[in-house]
Order: sequence, then structure tokens, then C-alpha cells
Amino acid sequence: MEQKATPGRAPTRAVVTGAAGFIGSHLVDALLGEGATVIGVDRRDPRTDPGAASNLAGALDHPGFTFVAADLRTCPLTALFLQADAVFHLAALPGVRSSWGERFAEYTACNVFATERVLAACEDVRVPRLVYASSSSVYGTTSGGATGEEIVPNPESPYAISKLAGEQLCLAHAGKATSTVTAVALRLFTVYGPRQRDDMLIGRALTAALGGPALNLYGEGSQRRDFTYVGDVVRAAIAAATAPIGTTVLNIGTGVTTTVLNVLAAVEELTGRPVPVNRLPTQAGDVEATLADNSRAVDLLGWKPRTALTQGVSRQLAHLNANSPQPVGA
Ligand code: NAD
Ligand code: UGA
Repeated sequence: MEQKATPGRAPTRAVVTGAAGFIGSHLVDALLGEGATVIGVDRRDPRTDPGAASNLAGALDHPGFTFVAADLRTCPLTALFLQADAVFHLAALPGVRSSWGERFAEYTACNVFATERVLAACEDVRVPRLVYASSSSVYGTTSGGATGEEIVPNPESPYAISKLAGEQLCLAHAGKATSTVTAVALRLFTVYGPRQRDDMLIGRALTAALGGPALNLYGEGSQRRDFTYVGDVVRAAIAAATAPIGTTVLNIGTGVTTTVLNVLAAVEELTGRPVPVNRLPTQAGDVEATLADNSRAVDLLGWKPRTALTQGVSRQLAHLNANSPQPVGA
């Protein structure tokens, strides 16, 4: 039987791929806060990319942090992973709706080929644990209830297919008789909070309410998501790095699902302003609903989501306001 984890323990030496991104930069901050030595790898270089610099503002001068600007499709990896207790593999092209058409070659290279390279390097230098950022999108359309990890995946976008392929690569590598790496794939459910990517709903709705461009509302707004706060996701990832469990797949979501229209209502309530919208058709690959059965993660990681949607959205609003000349709302 699998043992349960001690919540909150962090690895001593960690590598975070995708470190300059939304979730990766929060993970770097949390690991440094827990005393870990962290190597962050990303092809976005904070010396030339203002978004990356802003995300990593708290980490770049930290004595425990080393940033390496590199592309995982080509860069040498074993030297970076040599001393690591855990590699957190978050680097990927993350958009669902933008994964159709010409960009698919880049999606497969960054999300599948690079993941294979990361896994091979983990094996070469005997990294004990890889934590992989998988996606709720691997489930596709479901019956509407909470999805458990045992449900047969049914990915409905090129992105979702690439994330499922990455997850399967983790399982295949960890399953090799000669492999010493264990892999924990976390199926993250629509993550939000400060530094959220600017293609995502909550940031776009807040920006629209604050006077930015109107929100493109895809479909009727009746679609539902299990919106999960980034701080809760980061705690789960850290717990997954040290939990005394074998290779596995875990849902990281709240177990609560909310319609897009209800998110817009929450944003209007918090800002005291309307969210202007342009109505557009439902986008290919967007599923109607996601809802996590998170009981395996709760059981195996000793983890629980802590942040209610309005609390998390109000933190995201506070972060936007802190970077805006005209602060609005609560
Ligand atoms: P993000 O775009 O903010 O971060 C991803 C980072 O990976 C970027 O900084 C990018 O430059 C880097 N990257 C991409 N390809 C690379 C390459 N070839 N070499 C080096 N760096 C590369 O995205 P995010 O929202 O923080 O997502 C992080 C991870 O979590 C992704 O794997 C994504 O699929 C997964 N995920 C995100 C969500 C979500 O709601 N944000 C939900 C489920 C899963
Ligand atoms: C999010 C992330 O972007 C993916 O990286 C991740 O893999 C996925 O969650 C996941 O859970 O695995 P998504 O659920 O599409 O994808 O997140 P949002 O971009 O915040 O969209 C949520 C809903 O709002 C979708 O139905 C979308 O169609 C809608 N939306 C989004 C709009 O109507 N307008 C927008 O401008 C953005």
C-alpha cells in the first residue's frame, strides 16, 4: 500500500523548467521560501523579456536561485539535473485554443519532444523524482460529474493530446526496468491567480473591468471550470516532489466547478464595474465542463485546496492593481 506524505516538505535541490512562466515562477518563489536551492530553466530570458523579469522579480537576486536561459528542445540537460532531488517539468506551450493548425509542430516539439529529453536526462543522472505539469484537458468531454484519474482520457485539442503524450512518456520512462526515476503527473485544473497568462479568462475579465479591451466571451458562458488557485497548485507540486509514493497520476483541482458567467459576476462584484464583452462562437477544443475528483491527491499528498474562488480572484485583482496607475475595487 502507498504511504501518505508529510505535507509541506520541500526538496533540498530542485530544478524548475518553465521557471519564467505563471505557475513556474510561483513554484520557484515557494521553493526558495522553503530553503531549497533552485535552478530555473526557461527559454524566456528575464534580461530581454519584461514578462519573465516581472514574474521572477522576487527570485533573481536570491542567493539560492540560478536562472538558465535555454531551450529544452536543444540544450544540454544532464549538467543542470546532476544534483537535483526533484525536477519539476512545467515548460510547455500551454494554450488550448491556440494549438490548432500551424503551431502544432511547436506544440509537439516543446510539449512532447522536450519532455522526452527531460526524462532521458533524469534517467542519465538518476534524478529520483520528476513532477510533471499535466492537464485536466486530457479528460475531454465527460459525463458532467467529478472525474477521477481512472477515467479513460479523451483529449479534444492538439494541446490536450500533447499533454497526454507527455504524461504517457513519464509513465513509460518510470516503468522501464532500468529506470530509477519516479514520476508524479499532476493533472492541473484551470489555474488562476497573480501573474496568470494573459490569454486566460480571469485575467482577461479583470483587465476588461479595469478599462482594458472587452473580453471575448466564447459561447454562452455556460461552460464550467474547476478554477484552482496557483498557491494551492504550488503546494501540491512541492508535496508531490517528496511524497513517499511511486509513479502515479493525480488530479489537482478544488472539486468545485463554476460557470464563466458566474466568474464574470464575481469580477463585477469585486471591481464594482461591468465586464464589457464581445460574443464569439465556442472555440474548438474548449470542453463544456471540468470538475476534479481530488480525493487521490488529498489522500496521497496530505494536500487540500485552501483558496475559494472569490478570495483568489481578489488576490489577482490586487496584483493587477499594484501594477496599474488607476487601482479599482476592493
Ligand atoms: P506559461 O506559458 O506561463 O509557462 C510555461 C513556460 O514554459 C514559459 O515561460 C515558456 O517560455 C516555457 N517554455 C515553453 N517551451 C519551452 C522550451 N522549449 N524550452 C524552455 N522553456 C520553454 O504557462 P503556465 O500557465 O504557467 O503553465 C505551466 C505548465 O502547467 C504547462 O506545462 C501547462 O501545460 C501546465 N498547465 C497549466 C494550466 C493553467 O491553467 N495555467 C493548467 C493545466 C496544466
Ligand atoms: C486552462 C489553461 O489555459 C491550460 O493551459 C490548461 O491546460 C487547462 O486550463 C487545464 O485545465 O488543463 P482553460 O480551461 O481554457 O485552459 O482556461 P481559461 O483560458 O481560463 O478559459 C476558461 C474558460 O473561459 C474557457 O471555457 C474559455 O473558452 C473561456 N474564455 C477564456 C473566454 O470565454 N474568453 C477568454 O478570453 C478566455
